[in-house]
Formats: sequence, C-alpha cells, structure tokens
Amino acid sequence: MQKEWYRINGGAPLEGTVTISGAKNASVAIIPAAILSGDTCILENLPHIHDVQVLETILKQIGATVEYTVGDCMKIDASHITTTEVVSPEVQEMRASYYLLGAMLGRFGECDIALPGGCVIGARPIDQHVKGMRALGAEIEIGSDNILRARAKHLHGAEIFFDMVSVGATINVMLAAARAEGLTVLTNVAKEPHVVDVANFLNMMGASVKGAGTDVIRIQGRKELHGCGYAIIPDQIETGTFMIAAAATMGDVVIKNVIPTHMEAVSAKLMESGARVEEGDDGRDFFIRVCMRERPRPVSIKTLVYPGFPTDLQQPMTSYLTVANGVSTINETIFENRFNHVKELRRMGASISVKENRFCKIKGVKQLRGADLRASDLRAGASLIIAALMGQGVSNVHHIDYIDRGYEFLDAKLTALGADIRRMKG
Ligand code: EPZ
Repeated sequence: MQKEWYRINGGAPLEGTVTISGAKNASVAIIPAAILSGDTCILENLPHIHDVQVLETILKQIGATVEYTVGDCMKIDASHITTTEVVSPEVQEMRASYYLLGAMLGRFGECDIALPGGCVIGARPIDQHVKGMRALGAEIEIGSDNILRARAKHLHGAEIFFDMVSVGATINVMLAAARAEGLTVLTNVAKEPHVVDVANFLNMMGASVKGAGTDVIRIQGRKELHGCGYAIIPDQIETGTFMIAAAATMGDVVIKNVIPTHMEAVSAKLMESGARVEEGDDGRDFFIRVCMRERPRPVSIKTLVYPGFPTDLQQPMTSYLTVANGVSTINETIFENRFNHVKELRRMGASISVKENRFCKIKGVKQLRGADLRASDLRAGASLIIAALMGQGVSNVHHIDYIDRGYEFLDAKLTALGADIRRMKG
C-alpha cells in the first residue's frame, strides 16, 4: 500500500473561515448505541473519518444494514442483527469499539467482543467498564485469546460509583443501563460534551437518562427503545485544534458551527497567552474568532476532566507554546504517556524537557524550523501539523493515518485558510 504523508511549507498565518464537523467522540458512541433498538436510526452530521468507517464495517459484519441517505445521513437498521460476536480484526483497529459491549448487552444480554487495540498514550484499561457491567448483573470473563465474554440473564439497575472519572466507562455503562430493569445511578461520572450527546440520543430513542453533564446520572431502564433521527454535536476537539492553530500561526480565523461553552477552558488559556478570542452568532451558527498578532505569553496547562483543559488538546497546545516569550509548563494528569510528540518538536528546534512523563517545561524559542516528523497518535499528529504550519520552511508529517482517524478533510480545511499543505503519495 502506498505511503501517504503531508508536506507543509510553514510560515503563513491562517486566515478566513472554517466550519467544524460532527464530534468524533460522540459519533463513535452513538453509532453502536443505535443497535439498542430493533428499529432504524438516522444520524446526521457524522464526520467522514476512519473511525466512523470502521464502525460502519463492524455493524454490517454483525448483520445491521448501514447506508448513507440523500443529505449525507447514516441510516442504521439494526432489526436483523445476526450475531453477538464482535471479534473481527476491525474491532482492534480502534478504541471505541468497546461501546458495542454496552449496546449488545443492553439489546441481547450477551456479547463476545475482542478487546480494543493498544494505544501509545497509555495502558487504557477497561476495568471500570467491566465493574459497571458486572454491577448491572453481567457475568464477564476475559479469555487468554483477548476476547471478553459477557452474559447477562437479567440486566438490572444498580448504584455505581466509578473509581475514577472515565468517559468510556460512563458512556458504556449508560448504554447497557438504558435497557436494564429498574433504576441505575452512576456517580463520579464524566461530564464531557459527548457524554451529554449520547444521553440526548438515548432519550430520543425513548430512554430515560437524567443528569448527564453533572456528577450523577440517573437511568430508568426501558424494555424497548425505538429508532430516531439525531444530529451529532460539533467536535469540541476539532474546534480547539483550529483555535490553537489560528493563534499559533499569528492568524485570524472564524470557526463556525461550534458550541462556545464547550471551549471555555481553551478560550481562557489562549486569551491568557495574549490571543483575542471572540464568540458570536451569525444568525445561523455560533462562531468563535481567534486572532493573534504577537508572540504568545507563556502559560501553565493542567489537563483535567471536563470542564477542565482537555487532554486531547494538550499536544496541540504544546506546539503553540514552543515559541512563547518565556517558560510554559504542562501537567498531563489523564494519560501516562502522552508526550510522544515532544521528541518530534525538538527536531524542529523546540526546547522542551519532560519529567516522569507527566510534566513538561517548554522554553520558548524565536521560531521552529521545518523537519521530517512522525505522528505517534491522533492528537500528536495534529500537534505536528500545527508545528509545521508555524515552522519556517518545509516539514513532512508521516503516519497521517492516525490523523485521518479523527479529522475530516483536514488538509482541505487548512488549504482554504491559506496553508501550504499537500497530501503526498509515494
Ligand atoms: C476518551 O477515551 C476519548 N476517546 C479520548 O480521546 C480522550 O482522550 C479521553 O476520553 C479523555 O477525555 C473516545 O471518546 C473514543 P477515559 P477513554 O476512560 O474513554 C483510565 C482522542 O484523541 N481508565 O476517560 O478511553 C484511562 O487509562 C481520544 O479523541 C482506567 O484506568 O478515556 C485514562 O488514564 C484519545 N480504567 C483515564 O482513565 C477504565 O476502565 C481516562 O480515560 C477506563 C479508563
């Protein structure tokens, strides 16, 4: 298979308007959630990204009908699912395939699923997912073949206090609880926008999910759920990526189809660094405008669960701060190995020191220079593209398959903002 990479000639400010796509981390949960009903669901505003394509493949493999309608909506008919075995190679291609566990348990009371693939940013265990499913009455075994086997003669409500805040475990248990008999109370839950989006989708299917976005979620299980139509929220992380890219290239960008309240931690940090961030609505869309005309001031970042600064934007922010007028610090509290982009930024002349893989100190330099770079994961890839856009001269960003997993039409969107970026094949 031919290799592909991005060739970027940096130094130009991003200027103009960009429209944000549907949220990846909501989409990869809502597509599996659609099988909780034996009906048809129509999903609008799904991003055309690799992770969505993989889930489409998996749903077809288990017997669902998945097609795109006029108007680019995904139509999922889950009435003829033929198996509760989800063990194809595609399942290990992505992390979020584990949402099929909650959906299958909720719908069929059983599921054999391959454990999700590895990931460079951390071990990413699923012990909280398993804890929640067992509390709902499922028996769960993980075999030496890395297949998780779940059986639940009777899914019943439960009170579950998560040992730590987990987006995946909160959503996965919510899916199963939506069809469990009785009341489930989830405490110490994730409050990310995509958690709320999944809860809203479930309620459109006739579920009773209350309190998503707060510390306690109450779910009254339903015997049956029905199909529905639903539009995915805009992607909080893509929005933040473009906000940071605008500031990092000393540009002036209007980012449309956003939800400003989801971006408060990012807006605050960019303003603290000296960027101008304005919110507004043009009568149809909310937008955020980011303008930066000076060298950024140094800031300190601590990644936290929502509404704190998102870990998924820690890597793009690191690139931005490599040219700040002083020393910035970053404390990554969510994942134990999320600094793989640092060695690549050093190749561009960045001055960054890392301690215990949880802290980094960034001494601002005047400018980055172009270099050959390798993405190690999705958001590291985004951070390297931002660094290449900032850098003087040409950079090549390799392993962009990671980037294709989470950003829709990224090079086209950046080109429209004046970036000199080309997707190369060879
Ligand atoms: C989701 O991953 C996102 N992925 C990640 O985005 C995001 O970084 C993360 O939430 C945090 O916001 C999707 O939504 C598909 P967690 P998830 O469970 O659910 C530990 C991206 O770039 N943990 O909130 O896997 C875990 O190891 C991706 O879009 C356990 O120990 O994250 C981590 O240290 C990257 N046991 C912390 O909790 C568990 O059972 C937070 O993980 C579950 C999690």
